[in-house]
Amino acid sequence: MKQISIIGSGVMGRGIAYAASIGGFHVHLFDVQNDSLANAEKEIGAIFQKGVERGKITESNMKDALNRLRFMNDLEEAVHTADLVIEAVPEKLEIKRDVFEKLDHLTKEACILASNTSTMSPTEIGSFTKRPDKVIAMHFFNPVHKMPLVEIIKGLETSGECVQIVKETAEQMGKQTVVVNEFPGFVTSRISALVGNEAFYMLQEGVGTAEEIDKAIKLGLNYPMGPFELGDLVGLDTRLNNLEYLHKTLGEKYRPAPLLVKYVKAGRLGRKTGKGVYEYPSNL
Ligand SMILES: NC(=O)c1ccc[n+]([C@@H]2O[C@H](COP(=O)([O-])OP(=O)(O)OC[C@H]3O[C@@H](n4cnc5c(N)ncnc54)[C@H](O)[C@@H]3O)[C@@H](O)[C@H]2O)c1
Repeated sequence: MKQISIIGSGVMGRGIAYAASIGGFHVHLFDVQNDSLANAEKEIGAIFQKGVERGKITESNMKDALNRLRFMNDLEEAVHTADLVIEAVPEKLEIKRDVFEKLDHLTKEACILASNTSTMSPTEIGSFTKRPDKVIAMHFFNPVHKMPLVEIIKGLETSGECVQIVKETAEQMGKQTVVVNEFPGFVTSRISALVGNEAFYMLQEGVGTAEEIDKAIKLGLNYPMGPFELGDLVGLDTRLNNLEYLHKTLGEKYRPAPLLVKYVKAGRLGRKTGKGVYEYPSNL
């Protein structure tokens, strides 16, 4: 495994690109939006800089990793030499279908195609390609440079060899892994979506302010972040997409809270837009 291409340079794609380049891989980060690529370059630079300031990486580690990282807006050029592609486009099945159909044509036959989906079926995503044995979900967590886990989900046709290669690759990126069987939302998103949605119902019902609910969950239940702090970090649009998929596949208990839907309609998406449940003076 030498070259990894990442599709989508948003909240997750940029973090995965950082982890992969630090792990020693040659990384191509692709996006259809030049603005997103430019922001990704800035943000990744800032993460590297902080890493050096805090003594987590050396200046020369940073330089080497940055030399291995390219920001690209031509899909064919970005993926034709890849050994592994990690897709991190929005959680909408039709967008993922379009991306995987293209990747199947543009990549080498041996290339593994992974999705960073939070909820969706790698079996279904694999069916968009002629290589379902090499399609898998590789679920990173936000912020990628801090979170230690990659949840690996195999589809019905995913080969054991593919699971092993992806596991070793995640470990080389400095991550620990769990391998789980496919079910909507896997382990982590299923729980996280439920907690986050319930918090929005509570806010809507006037049980407490956002600050009080977050404080209660952090100090009373020992969660490192409150559900609204986490929702703003994840992106409320992403959280809503996850809930809509889980509602469709797992039923009523995942129906998105109307207040969450309202925030998304208003463009209050969280940190990435400067305003979600809370306000953020800077987008970085
Ligand atoms: N945000 C989180 O906390 C989180 C955590 C784990 C997994 N995920 C999953 O990661 C995936 C990406 O989420 P995100 O939060 O990074 O989204 P995001 O909205 O921040 O970024 C998505 C990026 O994809 C780009 N894009 C859209 N269509 C594209 C296409 N056809 N080709 C290439 N790029 C395209 C957009 O321009 C944007 O830069 C989703 O499947 C999401 O469920 C998100």
